[in-house]
Amino acid sequence: MSIAPPLSPIPRQQHHAELRVGPTGAATTPMLTVDLATVRDSYRQLQAALPGVDLHYAVKANPSEPVLYVLLDEGARWDVASPGEIDAVLAVDPDPSRISYGNTVKKAVDIAHAHARGVRRFAVDCDAELDKLIDLAPGATLLVRITTSGAGADWALGQKFGCDEVTAGRLLARALTHGHPVGICFHVGSQQHDVTAWDEPLATTARLRTLVRDHGSDLAVVDLGGGFPAHAADPTPDVSSFGTAIMAAVGRHLGPDVPPLMAEPGRVLVADAGTLETEVVLVSERAGRRWVYVDVGLFSGLAETMGEAIRYRITAHRVGRPLQGRTADVVLAGPTCDSVDVLYQQHRPQLPVDLQAGDRLRIHAAGAYTTTYSSVGFNGFAPLREVHR
Ligand SMILES: Cc1ncc(COP(=O)(O)O)c(C=O)c1O
Repeated sequence: MSIAPPLSPIPRQQHHAELRVGPTGAATTPMLTVDLATVRDSYRQLQAALPGVDLHYAVKANPSEPVLYVLLDEGARWDVASPGEIDAVLAVDPDPSRISYGNTVKKAVDIAHAHARGVRRFAVDCDAELDKLIDLAPGATLLVRITTSGAGADWALGQKFGCDEVTAGRLLARALTHGHPVGICFHVGSQQHDVTAWDEPLATTARLRTLVRDHGSDLAVVDLGGGFPAHAADPTPDVSSFGTAIMAAVGRHLGPDVPPLMAEPGRVLVADAGTLETEVVLVSERAGRRWVYVDVGLFSGLAETMGEAIRYRITAHRVGRPLQGRTADVVLAGPTCDSVDVLYQQHRPQLPVDLQAGDRLRIHAAGAYTTTYSSVGFNGFAPLREVHR
């Protein structure tokens, strides 16, 4: 009996991937290219829009090392969701006091790991999680996460996180009784279009602050969360408009003695820097519509097209030159043998009518929430690769 040799492993994502070149001389696809100068610029713009606010980069948006180093160089701090992200951050920035553990859903063992590594800021939104933190994170600052409506966001965070005001009051009181410094955090939903979305949670924060003061304390920090949008297909206000509206709301609700402020931006710092190049595999007519199948899909990085929530800007190219001329709408789909691997059916991207297999599409503002969403090898397709320039 012969034993089959082991299958060669599907290559894992390489953050410093060499630019692989295909037989025609063009870089192989799909491939995300992240422009580090744009990351730096996005950080500076947001910091200018939110003066005095400590920016904790939400590492989940793009944890690649070159991105972390650029943001470290700019003075960023960190928002993490797991021990894996804590370790990734500590590998580039050994100071754990700059980390905030923003995930409200944590295993006890993960809280213990974070605390042992020196993390002293954690989010919480219910009594059972607070029990764990009281046990395993002595002395830590506990940020109680309040719910928001998510209105105005393309990627609302729904009912999964946060608590109502009454619960928040109880959690704050319990944490204070156990000797913890406390804060408030919230997230208005990702790819948020409405610059006034911070107003309501800041009003709630002000009421909860009164309760904290009644306990003889004050808020150690107010966390404005993330949500700042990238330049996707639908126009959004620029970052300075968000900054103006948010700082005005902070002054209105928390002034004149404003507590220390932080934010947890993810998307806005890295999305615009990323361009995802993909190859057209097939163009076909079905049921009266033109279907364009490309070599990246829902399972290789574009998970945020679920429900057609994030609508990317897309341009078409043929051997390095833009494809111009007449366009018409298409259904855009990924390459796998899975029927849910359809990116856009309702939102109708306009693509050139002479688009053909072998042409390239560029998916813009794709630097956030793509590489890490990519499956390890669904249908045998390799994970989305990322290069930096
Ligand atoms: C706790 C937390 N903080 C920050 C972020 C970053 O949000 P955004 O990318 O919209 O800025 C997220 C995103 O899911 C999050 O869950």
